[in-house]
Formats: sequence, C-alpha cells, structure tokens
Amino acid sequence: LQAKRRSKMGISDVVVNELKIDPAFVLSPEFRPKPVEVLKELDGIPVIDLAPLLANDEKGTQIIVEQIAKASEEWGFFQLINHGIPIKLLDDVEVEALKFFSLPLEEKRKIRRTLEHPLGYFDTELTQNVRDWKEVFDFVTRGKLEFAAADGTLNVQENKWPESPPFLKDVCEAWKEATLGVAYKILELLTLSLGLPATYFNPLFDKEDTNFMRLNYYPPCPAPDLVLGVSGHKDSGALTVLVQDEVGGLEVRRKDGEWIRVKPRRDALIINVGDLFQQVWSNDRYKSVEHRVVVNEHKERSSIPLFINPSNATNVFPIPELLDAQHPPKYRQYNWGDFLQALKTSHFKNMRVENIQI
Ligand code: SIN
Ligand code: FE2
Repeated sequence: LQAKRRSKMGISDVVVNELKIDPAFVLSPEFRPKPVEVLKELDGIPVIDLAPLLANDEKGTQIIVEQIAKASEEWGFFQLINHGIPIKLLDDVEVEALKFFSLPLEEKRKIRRTLEHPLGYFDTELTQNVRDWKEVFDFVTRGKLEFAAADGTLNVQENKWPESPPFLKDVCEAWKEATLGVAYKILELLTLSLGLPATYFNPLFDKEDTNFMRLNYYPPCPAPDLVLGVSGHKDSGALTVLVQDEVGGLEVRRKDGEWIRVKPRRDALIINVGDLFQQVWSNDRYKSVEHRVVVNEHKERSSIPLFINPSNATNVFPIPELLDAQHPPKYRQYNWGDFLQALKTSHFKNMRVENIQI
C-alpha cells in the first residue's frame, strides 16, 4: 500500500523514515494542521441564497448584494445555494477526474505541465517552499492560453487533454460553462456592492480573460498531521468559484487568526474573493483571506476551483471612484499579464500582491 501511495504522488526518490513520508512534504511545526478533534466545524461562513436572483426579483437581489458585501468584508468567503447548476454536472466531473488521477503516473505525466506549457497535469507544486500533498490538472476556460515568451514573442498554448478517460474534456467543459455563468453574475453583484455600475469590469474579461479551472486530487496521506494538501495562501485573481467533495478539509483563516474548517455542502458553490478584487480594486475595503487544505489519512479528496482572471493586457490599480483624500491608493499599478507570468515561472510561490503595496 505504501508503494502504491508513493507512486501515486510521483515520489520516486521517497525517503521512508520515522515520519513515514518524504521530508519534502513536511511542514515546520507552526504550520502543521491542528488535530481534528480541536477543530471547530464552520457554520460561520455565510450561506447566501441565490433564488431571488434567478427569479429576477429585484428587491431580493438587492438583499443578496448586501449579503455579499457583508460576507466579503467579514470573511472573504461565502457559500451560494440555489445557484441553478444541476449537481449531476458535478457528479460527472468528479467521476471522470477520479478515473484520470487513478491512472499510472507515467500516463498522467504524458500531459505534464512544463514552464513552456503551463497547462495539464502536475504533482510537484510548492506553496512556501514545502511540497503540497496533491495532484492537479489545469485547463484554461477559453481553450488556449496566450502569454509573452522569454524572448518577447507571443506564445499560444492549447489545453492538454488526456486520451483517457475520453469524456473528461466534455464533462469539464459542461461544468465550466455552468460555473462561469454564476461567476460573472457574482462579479457583477460584487461590483455593485462597491457602488460601481454592475458591468464596470466586464470589458476586462470579455474576450481575453485568463480564467482557468483546476481539478485537485488529494491522495490519502499516512501522516496528515505533518503536511498540508495546500499550505496557507491567498488567491491572486479576481474571484474563485470552488466545489469540494464531502470529505472536507478546506480551512479558512478567520479574522481572529483561527483556522476554521469549511463544512462540505453538496448543494453549494464556495466563493472566495481574491487579491485582485478584494485588495487592489477595492483598495483594501475588502480583505483577501488566507486558506489551506488539510488531508485525510484514509480518504482521498477532490475539489474543483474556477479562477476568474482578467485579460493579460489589464493594468490593475485601485478604482479611482473609490479614492479620495481619506482613502489614498494603497497599491501601485501592475500589469496582470506580467504578474501571471511571474506567478507561473516562480511556481506560485513568490508573487504576492503585498509586493506592490505602496
Ligand atoms: C485551493 O485553495 O488551492 C484549494 C482549495 C480546496 O481544495 O478546497
Ligand atoms: Fe486557493
């Protein structure tokens, strides 16, 4: 069994010691997860009912905008119910994703992500220099990714889909279409909540967004108290729409510093407002929130985030309409494409929005 787990994680050079796992995954004690018995289950993360929006109920929608504003200020995370997406679409993606992640490592690595082609499968992500206990498959929602190569020429990359399972692409695309619709609706409501016209940011996403979707797979781990599936981090884009399976393990850092476990809800989409929207556009009115993933000794876990990001050409800066003498800009302007490129080449570990703070 140990050997099977190791090959799943692609740890060919694994050192089996008293820790039972490769030290590359082992966190220093202050970053390790808490034993599950001292965790408080989270009911606190707000649950927002989207039914009035779907019914075109204007008054109800106004209440939703207020709920979103409050949740973004207090938590940076909320769950959406009655979002209108059939759960069957999610079931289908989870089944196909599991088939993919169960393939032998050599198979999965045929569509491995590289620096030149940053899409597809990878199993060696680092967060803050420690290896995450997870495997990942990334694809862009527009089907191709454009970015400047090192020599300045435009590099265009298509999504890399595996030959097997054959339906992975179709089910992922169906889930993508459905969640994109909700994501853009929420982006509009968040924009309204800042007192801006609902479609204010739409031109930045219209044709050349850099959205991507990720299938996360967290294998069972023989030492779940020493590692994390994903170490504490903040999402750098505008918005993330996430679903997690019933195993659970997502933890959100509450304002008082406490890590709180997000209770899995099959009927809910988890919305996490990222650095770009929360901090830069809103000029710190909303705060981006740290989160992490705890793994399980006996159960594998899956989750599927959709990251909503603007076009490469977007210059990001605090929204002038929100600035005045009492609210001077807190961030310098930066170019989203350059930022994204730096994120990719540094394997997501060094680029922080904090670096462009004034
Ligand atoms: C992430 O934030 O990167 C993953 C979240 C999850 O797996 O629940
Ligand atoms: Fe995240």
